[in-house]
Amino acid sequence: MEKRLLQIGVLASGSGSNLQAIIDDIESGNLPAKIAVLIVNKSQAGAVERARKHGIPSLIISHKNFSRREDFDAALVKALQEHGVELVVLAGFMRVLSPVFFAAFPQRVMNIHPALLPAFPGVDAQEQAFNYGVRFAGCTVHFVDEGVDTGPIIIQAVVEVQPDDTRDSLAKKILAQEHRIYPQAIKLYAAGRLEIKGRKVIIRDCQTPAIGCTNPSCEEG
Ligand code: GRF
Repeated sequence: MEKRLLQIGVLASGSGSNLQAIIDDIESGNLPAKIAVLIVNKSQAGAVERARKHGIPSLIISHKNFSRREDFDAALVKALQEHGVELVVLAGFMRVLSPVFFAAFPQRVMNIHPALLPAFPGVDAQEQAFNYGVRFAGCTVHFVDEGVDTGPIIIQAVVEVQPDDTRDSLAKKILAQEHRIYPQAIKLYAAGRLEIKGRKVIIRDCQTPAIGCTNPSCEEG
């Protein structure tokens, strides 16, 4: 019998390197999911070309064509539902979603943020962390709620800030970890192993309960 694949919809605004990491994990057979559709809000988003190369349907839905945020979100929801999407994956999607969206996909929206939340939410998180002078930076995969980068945390990965790091070298190190933990979080979701309890996400049957799956060396899941 064929393995059931989690149907995911990816929303992106930019280059799509996280999309690529998810595609690669699916194609290598590690992630039992199918990208049912990619939706971008900017026609020049590099993510579109990545999807095309891998035969993934993509749509451009520009927020500029809608006067109200809720109408834009309703159009996104319609397209995602038409493609049978079960989990929505935000990969560099630069719009804040409204309650209309969450009503359609309750607790079924994930995001990746390039900082160790709750530190440095919002835009330019790597630069915020770098300028602040932190010794450790990192990234966070979390479920999305109506706030900006405030939802329950699924996985975090940490990178060290070295004395010779620049804003760009730090961002590069963080991005490499994003590419590792985003597919990992989706895989845990696909296996039904994530349970949201208030602010906390419980990872069921985790083999490394002391550290959960937060340790960069933990390939579990
Ligand atoms: C990533 O740094 C992600 O954390 C943030 O937006 C960026 C998207 O990069 N939310 P890409 O388009 O996946 O390359």
